Amino acid sequence: MCGIIGMIANRPVAGHIVDALKRLEYRGYDSAGVATLDGGPAERRRAEGKLFNLEKGIDESPLGGAIGIGHTRWATHGAPTANNAHPHRAGRVSIVHNGIIENFQELAAELAASGIVPESETDTEIVALFFNKLLEDGLAPEAAMEKVAERVTGAYALVLMIDGEEDLLLCARRASPLAIGYGEGEMFIGSDALALAPFTRKISYLEDGDWALIRRSGAEIRDETGAKVERPIKLTEATGALIGKGNYRHFMEKEIHEQPEVMGYTLFHYYRSADRSIALPDLPFDPASLPKLTIVAAGTSFYAGMVAKYWFETLARIPVEIDIASEFRYRNPVMPEGGAALFISQSGESLDTLMALRHARDGGQHIVALVNQPESTIARESDVVLETLAGPEICVASTKAFTTQLVALLTLAVDFARRRGSASKEQLDAVMDSLVHLPAQIGEVLKETEKWLPVSHELSKVRDVLYLGRGLSYPIAMEGALKLKELSYIHAEGYAAGEMKHGPIALLEEGVPVIMVAPMDPWFEKVASNAMEVRARGGRVILLSDRSGINRLGDLATWSFELPECDPMVAPILYTIPVQLLSYFTAAEKGTDVDQPRNLAKSVTVE
Ligand code: F6R
Repeated sequence: MCGIIGMIANRPVAGHIVDALKRLEYRGYDSAGVATLDGGPAERRRAEGKLFNLEKGIDESPLGGAIGIGHTRWATHGAPTANNAHPHRAGRVSIVHNGIIENFQELAAELAASGIVPESETDTEIVALFFNKLLEDGLAPEAAMEKVAERVTGAYALVLMIDGEEDLLLCARRASPLAIGYGEGEMFIGSDALALAPFTRKISYLEDGDWALIRRSGAEIRDETGAKVERPIKLTEATGALIGKGNYRHFMEKEIHEQPEVMGYTLFHYYRSADRSIALPDLPFDPASLPKLTIVAAGTSFYAGMVAKYWFETLARIPVEIDIASEFRYRNPVMPEGGAALFISQSGESLDTLMALRHARDGGQHIVALVNQPESTIARESDVVLETLAGPEICVASTKAFTTQLVALLTLAVDFARRRGSASKEQLDAVMDSLVHLPAQIGEVLKETEKWLPVSHELSKVRDVLYLGRGLSYPIAMEGALKLKELSYIHAEGYAAGEMKHGPIALLEEGVPVIMVAPMDPWFEKVASNAMEVRARGGRVILLSDRSGINRLGDLATWSFELPECDPMVAPILYTIPVQLLSYFTAAEKGTDVDQPRNLAKSVTVE
């Protein structure tokens, strides 16, 4: 992960680099640093922890200069200390890096043979030492960069700055994203267009294996063969405005409350309720004869994929295979000719998902992406891009990106079902009608958030929590558990309710909270039996259901929460809201860092 910035301007850059890093803090916040050139060797400031520590350091000891680089870190090699913070220095070279250098030990051994020893534990410093050695051996910066691009393996985005070269930044990209921004006599480099948006809207993206020389007059880009190439300059839609929390305590709370609105945007981007028509981008395959759909994603997006598997199988009768992105390409999956693969990623940058996408492309699949960032790498490498219109999600834990993914996926499944004639018009119309009502129903649920406080207070005191669900609620149980553990650091597990008796039941003891995601759907009676099994062993049932479910089971629950009635196909979207609220209020009660939980990052660009 990590966010990187480079800037060559006609004004002091340090403050602007810090501002740009604020837009990249979602990529990691273990440490941060800036280095600039101002007539002598590069000067740098680095600090452990969040950006305000770095800002304080720069306020106390300002950095001059109109050229500089900056970094916000998610630690991979080496602890998140100031010494391991970027930029790293070696001789005349300063460097910032996002990704993992896979052959750093081999390069370190070569350097050690020449008596060159690193100061930090990072793979990044090895690249700086390697580059500096090439300069000392007499290579010009361009030739040294070409050599680095040739020798260094792994996933990386790099920006390098050389003492004495005040009109030159060098950068390179392999797998990790890197954008170049074109200003008026100024040039910018950044991990994404969002970071560069306050400076310029003119952006080009480096492709895999590209490296570039950036001067105030422009960029010279080379591909992996060393040939000069042009990469198209586009006007980005990214906005430079920093998003505020409004009257909410945390971005997560704000983003939970934005869901009715952004789910509506996403739904009506594809669906017209007047004539019940669905308009999707042109597909390079015919869903009516699609032999198989492969769905791949990571984390919360993977749970959206699990829900979608039910929808595509039940409504569209398409065989669906689903996999976790980091596993997909390592198990040699069988991909039929003419098949399609759907990649779900809010950031559009998760490296596991991107690598899986490339594997599916090599396997001859049509590539469909569902992303919240239409300018992301995954979007750019796909045949068809479906967008969620969640808007920027600042809280590291995903909320509105997830529910908008579900809205888009259900709409897609209904569209495929219509084209395949696999479900009745009445059934599909009922699903879409229920989906249209959903934002208003969620708005109602969000009007009464105080009712979640007492149970969250109890949850904040426990060590373990179980989430159970069947059918379409099973992925929501998993999502609830993930959200609780990442936000509150409480151990939580989500299980298919029927699976509990095959092992997890051993965890049940007096007082363990068990959250049952149990809308009145075809699986309800079975879930009811599981709730009784929990109760019989002293577990405290927290029941999420509708009125009829609560009438049926409320007596055995310690807490019951009534949700509006909806079509069972739509229920997983509705039942996501309570699991989000429970995690949010539990974490807020515990006082953890809700928006930036420890060890996490929003865009995971390492494998
Ligand atoms: C958890 C969360 C993560 C992401 C995962 C994939 O709240 O947000 O589990 O879902 O890292 O990220 P994307 O969707 O950007 O590929």
